[in-house]
Amino acid sequence: MTVQPAGTPSSMPTPAKSPRAATAMRTDYCGELGVDDIGRTVELCGWVHARREHGEHLAFIDLRDRTGIVQCVVDGAHDLRSEYVVRVTGAVRSRPEGTENPNLATGAIEIGDCTVEILNPAEPPPFPLDGRRDVDETLRLRFRYLDLRSERLQRNLRARAAVNSAIRGAMEAQGFVEIETPMLIASTPEGARDFVVPSRLSPGEFYALPQSPQLFKQLCMVGGVDRYYQIARCLRDEDLRADRQFEFTQLDAEMSFASQADVISVISEAVASAVEAVTGVRPESFPHLTWREAMERFGSDKPDTRFGMELVELTDVFAETGFNAFKAPCVKGIRVPGGADKTRNQLDGLTEQAKRFGAKGLVWMKVEPDRTLNSPVAKFLRDDERDALVERFGATAGDLLLLVADERPKVWHVLGLLRLELGRPPVNEGGLVFVWVIEFPLFEALDEAGRPVPAHHPFTMPHEDDLFLLDAYLRGELDGPALLDIRSQAYDLTLNGWELGSGSVRIHRDDIQRKIFAALGISDEEAERKFGFLLRAFRFGAPPHAGFAFGIDRLAALLVGEENIREVIAFPKTQSGTDPLTGAPTPIDAHHLEELGLRLLPKKQ
Ligand code: AMO
Ligand code: AMP
Repeated sequence: MTVQPAGTPSSMPTPAKSPRAATAMRTDYCGELGVDDIGRTVELCGWVHARREHGEHLAFIDLRDRTGIVQCVVDGAHDLRSEYVVRVTGAVRSRPEGTENPNLATGAIEIGDCTVEILNPAEPPPFPLDGRRDVDETLRLRFRYLDLRSERLQRNLRARAAVNSAIRGAMEAQGFVEIETPMLIASTPEGARDFVVPSRLSPGEFYALPQSPQLFKQLCMVGGVDRYYQIARCLRDEDLRADRQFEFTQLDAEMSFASQADVISVISEAVASAVEAVTGVRPESFPHLTWREAMERFGSDKPDTRFGMELVELTDVFAETGFNAFKAPCVKGIRVPGGADKTRNQLDGLTEQAKRFGAKGLVWMKVEPDRTLNSPVAKFLRDDERDALVERFGATAGDLLLLVADERPKVWHVLGLLRLELGRPPVNEGGLVFVWVIEFPLFEALDEAGRPVPAHHPFTMPHEDDLFLLDAYLRGELDGPALLDIRSQAYDLTLNGWELGSGSVRIHRDDIQRKIFAALGISDEEAERKFGFLLRAFRFGAPPHAGFAFGIDRLAALLVGEENIREVIAFPKTQSGTDPLTGAPTPIDAHHLEELGLRLLPKKQ
């Protein structure tokens, strides 16, 4: 290795400032040096972030480690290239007047009289490591170890570590015990596809990787653990999106002899601690909304309450209308402040969008300076209808009103999406706004066969006051749609319009669990085959219990203002589920297949 002869430091290195930084090779971290250190001789290790040559005998290198950058003045830098790994010894001094860099944390100082030792040369990186956002995603992931050197990812990963650490602290302070549950299991029903692992010792049989520790944590409650938590890896084979990866991490928790309020309190505490650890500010409140109210006001079960534009009820206004499009079970609208400057083309675009969301159509109205309505359908409305509209919306000149008429859930859905489209701020604006959404329905819809689909999972306790509906349905006195009115004891935590987590009070009684399976069309035989172990456990004295899980990837992403959870995961997958770094997924050898008792079908075209 070359040693740059560049002026020998005048004294031995002074003792390290921070014991966290000191190793046999260095005294300090680059980014932690400041005016307090002036006069100290330091040894720094890191990567050459940039170099600038000023004539033959004067050059600057920006030396970078995980804490930041410091400028080093060297005799010559012609042997140095970007990303070379070097060790620099020199004296901290203040920068000459006028050369300070206010944009750099260490911008008041520099390291003078440096000796530079090259510890390892490096090939030129395939993209600049300044965290710029326009680098091709696949390239970033292929060279993820280089991407990780960027300030952005360093910050994100450390924020994530702070979240984990704060969560552990908060859960332990509340008496929760960390328990690791298995990765090779029988299927868990969270509603996604399982990733499966073939068994060598039982050819033709498979383990599923856990979609969550759900059943095991419930078994822990039967096992008397009382308060369980885990920072748990979960695996789900589902289509990937900005807030979804195959592998992700939950704070998973379960507690015995506890109500919804107990769980909400414990989880709010853990989340508040995590937020404080990253932002320095503890969230003041975690307001609650019922699911029904969230849907009526925001058209979403994960309401983004950072902005207004709430859905306005108009069904009664048009109860007697002569306008055909509004003769519907539900009419609602949103008011877009200042939206009246939209062109005809833009409005046609919005109408098309509403139709893609499932609407039959979209009525738009521009509010004129005299508060009259400019709309192709205004002429079909009576004066009193128009007046009531303006009144109900609190409309003022320049507003755009958008109205949809349909079945109520359809109206919620379409207006909820239009509201986000037209009003949603970027993730990192408007603060962090949490909302607990409670009283979810037990079933979210009926499938093609008319069977109810669980809104959470089939272990969720129905609302006590609605249990009679389930009984009536099972006795054949009610039809399928009546099931959709059953409320559950399930609750979600949302943050800035993202679903952060879900939980519920569980069914702890075998008889109620069987009723739910019956309503879901799961036969006794199937229930026994899939969940027999759980049902059996319930017969051995299961305590009432309740729990929750939230996505740590999602929380960490929102806390650092990232739109995609990939940015807070060290080694994520691409949108198509591949890992360009390792090449996964990859084929396996023929003998390996043989050993597992597997034969591949020809690839589908
Ligand atoms: P649920 O399925 O709602 O509930 O998941 C809880 C939270 O986990 C996160 N999450 C994901 N994050 C990233 N990528 C994914 N593919 C992904 N899927 C889910 C979300 C979600 O809100 N066992 C129940 C919890 C319980 O009832 O206790 C469960 O897993 O933030
Ligand atoms: P039509 O009567 O279908 O010609 O529609 C007249 C206007 O009402 C058009 O602007 C449609 O987009 C709109 N429209 C039709 N059906 C609905 C509906 N269900 N909700 C809101 N607007 C609608």
